[in-house]
Formats: sequence, C-alpha cells, structure tokens
Amino acid sequence: MRLSVIGCGYVGLVTGACLAAAGHEVTCTDIDAERIRRLQAGEVPIYEHHLEEILASARKAGRISYTADAGEAIRAGDAIFICVGTPPKESGEADLSAIDQVARQIAEQARSPKLVIEKSTVPARTGLELQRALAAYSSGGKSNFRVASNPEFLREGTAVGDFFHPDRIVVGVEDESAAADLREIYRPILERKFHCPVHKGSCPSQHEVAFLVTTINSAELIKHASNSFLALKISYANVIADLCERIGADVKEVTHAMGLDPRIGGQFLSAGLGFGGFCFPKDVQAFIHLAASVGVDFDLLKATERVNKQRIDRFLEKVHKALWVVKGKHVAVLGLAFKANTDDIRFAPALEVVKRLLEEGAIVHATDPEAISRTKALFPKVTYHEDPYDALRGADAALVCTEWDVFRNLDWNRAKPLMARGLVVDGRNLYSPKHMRDLGFEYYSFGRS
Ligand code: UGA
Repeated sequence: MRLSVIGCGYVGLVTGACLAAAGHEVTCTDIDAERIRRLQAGEVPIYEHHLEEILASARKAGRISYTADAGEAIRAGDAIFICVGTPPKESGEADLSAIDQVARQIAEQARSPKLVIEKSTVPARTGLELQRALAAYSSGGKSNFRVASNPEFLREGTAVGDFFHPDRIVVGVEDESAAADLREIYRPILERKFHCPVHKGSCPSQHEVAFLVTTINSAELIKHASNSFLALKISYANVIADLCERIGADVKEVTHAMGLDPRIGGQFLSAGLGFGGFCFPKDVQAFIHLAASVGVDFDLLKATERVNKQRIDRFLEKVHKALWVVKGKHVAVLGLAFKANTDDIRFAPALEVVKRLLEEGAIVHATDPEAISRTKALFPKVTYHEDPYDALRGADAALVCTEWDVFRNLDWNRAKPLMARGLVVDGRNLYSPKHMRDLGFEYYSFGRS
C-alpha cells in the first residue's frame, strides 16, 4: 500500500521505517525541513536500535522517501499516519494544536479520499474532533476522509523489535472498511511475512498477534489506560521500597515473589528513581486531565504522579545522608538518559538530580553511553566523560541514575582505587548490597536495608 507519515520523530520514523521494511511504499514528511534534509542525505536523527539499517535498506529498495512538502506527502498516500507531537500544556492537558494543523493540511492538500490514522498519543474523543475538523477544513464542508485510531505501544530502545513483534495491534474505527485497510497494512506483521531486522530471520516462536478492532474512543483510551497502569505499577513498587526500608525487608525479594503471580506479572516493578521520558509523565497528566474533564476524579493517578516526583527527594536524601555536605563535593553521575538504550533525556530523573546537585554547589562529572551531547547544552557547568572510569576518578560519590548495562557490568574493583571515597548511591538497584559492601563500598540503594 502507499502510505504517508506526517511527523518524523521517534514514533513517525520508526513507524515509517518498519512499514517500508514490511513492504509498503512510504512517504514521510516533517515540519522541520532540516530534519528532512538530513534524512534525505541518509542520516538518522535519533538513536534507535536497528533503525539505521532498516532505513538504509528501505531507501535502497526505493520504498521510503522524504519530503518537506506536506502536500506532496499527503497526496502520495492512500492512508496517512499522523505522528506529530502532543506535548503537555501547563495544565497537564495534551496540546493538540499540531493535530489540528495537520487536519487542515490534509483537508486542503488531498485530491482523493484518504484513511487518516492517529498514531500520536491523544486523549479519548480526539478522533471525533479530527473527523469534524477534516470536514470543517474541506471545501464545501464535505469530508472525503475516514478516521481511525491506531495507538502505538513501542518502547524507546526496542521500538523496531516491538513493531515487528507486537503483543497486540489495536485499531479504532468507525466502519469495517477502515478495519480492513488497517488489517492489510499490518498483514505482513500478522502473517509474519517480513525479514526481521532484530532476529535476522530466526524469531522466537510467538503467539498469534491479537488484532483488536474497537471504537475510536476505546482505542484512544486503551493507550492512555495502558501507559498509566504501567506508571502506577512503578509507583506502587516504589512505595513498597519505602516500606521495605522502614521495616527491614528487601524490595527485590518482595517484587520478585509478587511478579510470579501471573495476575501481577514481574515487569515494571523495579523500584528506584522512578519513571521519566516523554510518555509516562505526560500521559499520566493528560489522563488525569481527561478524567477530570468528564467529572471523574482519578485520585489513583494523582498519587502515582506524586510518588514519582518524591523519588528524586528520596534519592537526594540518601545522598545528603551519605555525603553530609554536598557543596564542593566531586560527584560522578552515571547515566543521563531517562532509561537505558536511548539517547532521550526528556523528563529524565537524572537531569533533575544534576540540576539540584549543581544548585547545591556540587562539582558534577557525568557519563552516559548515548546522551552526553544532548545534555551538554542544558548543563554546560558539568564535566562530561565518555568513559565511566574517568567520571569516577577522584569522585567523593558515584550516583547511579540510569539502568544501562555498561553500569550494571562496571568493574568496581577497578573503580574503587580511582575514587576519592568508596561511596555509591544506586538509584536503579543495579548491584547486590552485600557484594558492594564486600568490595569495601559504602552502598545505598532503594528498598534494601
Ligand atoms: C512507554 C511504554 O512502555 C510503551 O509501551 C509506550 O508505547 C511508550 O511509553 C509510548 O507511549 O510511546 P518508554 O517511554 O519508551 O515506553 O519507556 P519504558 O520502557 O516504559 O520506561 C519508562 C520509564 O519507567 C523509564 O524512566 C524507566 O526507567 C522507568 N521504569 C520502568 C522504572 O522506573 N521501573 C520499572 O520497573 C520500569
């Protein structure tokens, strides 16, 4: 099928690349002409595992193209994926102005009927508004468009793998024909007729992918409800960690045993510095706002947000307790990205930690495998090191802020003599307290006495 993708951020680029790799002809556009120029030149503006190789092979096969002219992209596709940003407003409500703008462009530029698919995360009822906007902006007020919602469940860092091996594909539609078109778009995934860039053709056997056809409102709600539930699970684990510290239990033992119950599940129960990134914090806020707008008080999510914000305070309390005076101390921050395997620093807990340490007069040395260049502009006073051992040289304390494997596998025997003081405050519970103490470290983490 001929597809168009509007918005070449994380979601748009991964969606466009994967759909092209699955055999479709894809035209991508973005309001950022420089980004399009870079893509046309074969550069990949974001770090995402396997993205570069699938973009290169789709380009070679002539299945993906880029244009800064939105009209050209709109006319090229039978189906158009809207993948523009929906950032939070001051109030927490999602800002849908980019969606509105795209609706106007589609209505004005299309010359034939189109299936318009929302991929961006939007609050429930946006599809209905989008349908109205497309009609209002079309000449004569007569819409030639069908609208559908197709939320994405991709995780940064594993987005390409997630796209080819989804747990479920959700399509919210108003009529059967839109569902049939979306089924056709995803047929290579549903029938597993693609060359998997992650497993190189030897994918682990999988259950059949659930293809769920719902109303548009339900599809939109499924996305917000899923992300908010995962955020709630993390905050729950974090409160359990606080309890473990007071009571003298081990949060890893507790959450491991909890997770063995299939009704609970073992994932997203890691306690620590809490959740960040551009999805969970904004989606929780937007969901609270949506609920309030229809008279539902989502107290549970307000608590989720509150607990998450407190994680930074809890972490810095531990730093203070260990270091006593922070001013003038050389602190090595291990990890800047909001999680491992990404260069994304948006709403990263590490950034709030760095900001507060600098405010208190600490001398901050930081390291991260991918996120240094993005962080430099924000914190020019920090000294950055590619090599974690360089960051640890002369440090009074090491603060672990992101769960990268390179930190998990750090040789602390090698690091110890480099540091001025053997003190580690672990915001991601990466190490065994006993092992660290056996190595002679003063070691603090979350929920483990
Ligand atoms: C999240 C969802 O997991 C995806 O399913 C969804 O598609 C995506 O948002 C989105 O809406 O686009 P992502 O933001 O890439 O994906 O990150 P996650 O892997 O979910 O991690 C989010 C944050 O939670 C990270 O800061 C991570 O460190 C933290 N986390 C995760 C914990 O603190 N504890 C855990 O047990 C798990």
